[in-house]
Amino acid sequence: MVESLFESRFVVPGYTSFIIQGGEAVLHPQCGEILLAVQKQGFNYALLSNGLDSRRLVDFVEKFNIENVTLSLDGCPSTYMKVRGVDGYGSVIKSIEELKKTKTAVTIAYTINPWNCREDYIHVSEIAKRYGVALKTVIYGDANIFNTDFKGYVFYDTSDLMKNDLEQKFVLLYKKWLAGARIPCTSIFDNTFVMPNGDVRLCHCSKVILGNLSKDSFDSIWLSKKTKKILRQHQTCNKCYGHCHRMYDLSMLDKAKFLPIFILKKLFCGGDIGLIVNELRRKS
Ligand SMILES: C[S@@+](CC[C@H](N)C(=O)[O-])C[C@H]1O[C@@H](n2cnc3c(N)ncnc32)[C@H](O)[C@@H]1O
Ligand code: SF4
Repeated sequence: MVESLFESRFVVPGYTSFIIQGGEAVLHPQCGEILLAVQKQGFNYALLSNGLDSRRLVDFVEKFNIENVTLSLDGCPSTYMKVRGVDGYGSVIKSIEELKKTKTAVTIAYTINPWNCREDYIHVSEIAKRYGVALKTVIYGDANIFNTDFKGYVFYDTSDLMKNDLEQKFVLLYKKWLAGARIPCTSIFDNTFVMPNGDVRLCHCSKVILGNLSKDSFDSIWLSKKTKKILRQHQTCNKCYGHCHRMYDLSMLDKAKFLPIFILKKLFCGGDIGLIVNELRRKS
């Protein structure tokens, strides 16, 4: 099924990026085959992992020359236990240390969630600094894909502690999004999700399925009237604040932020463009 993606005219070596995640991708029985297939075609790709099995993870990274690995770490050891239900903090640190000996670029993903707090963010940013790795900040959501019991929003502000401008704006704008600000959804025209059963999903955070790769080719799914209609309908969806989507939207607006607002309103469909762009233009 993965091979069928490579036949698509929209999947271009050197341009298309694959992000392999899960669940825990390194535990998938065909993880090696999938990585080999993507590597053989010369695609950029990254792996998201919980970092609990450092041996397995490092083996994959070395064998398949994985260029980017993102590891999740949501706080200090006791918080880790609360969030993940296992005593895995030490294993994640070991993974960071082992991966630092390889050529891969490591990023820590910190998720602001109902079970951690600002002190955990400070702790994780110190870890990132100590090991010289990047840090990105995700915000908890209750989208179906995460299979989470806790429904709702919990937020504490870490923006004053953040250095990366756009990451900081992502956190700052979350408060505005919670208060009703509309961010146009642009990522869906460029990114898509393929599930292990072949379902091609509109996005990470909704249940909308565009088609299935075991029945149709990616191109016939992507070019169908049904997909075009769904994409049009969701340009103004605004239902999630998923990092993989809304960071894309903000980075698009950030690149175009010096254009006059009336032009931006024409370019980006259905959002509170003035409000978002003013925040993006503001010096931190
Ligand atoms: C779903 S995990 C999959 C990759 C890997 N197994 C892991 O645990 O990191 C990818 C990222 O999503 C984050 N995540 C998990 N549940 C989430 C939720 N309800 N809302 C937002 N992000 C969430 C995780 O913290 C992790 O950084
Ligand atoms: S805003 Fe809606 S369509 Fe866009 S990524 Fe989020 S859930 Fe999907």
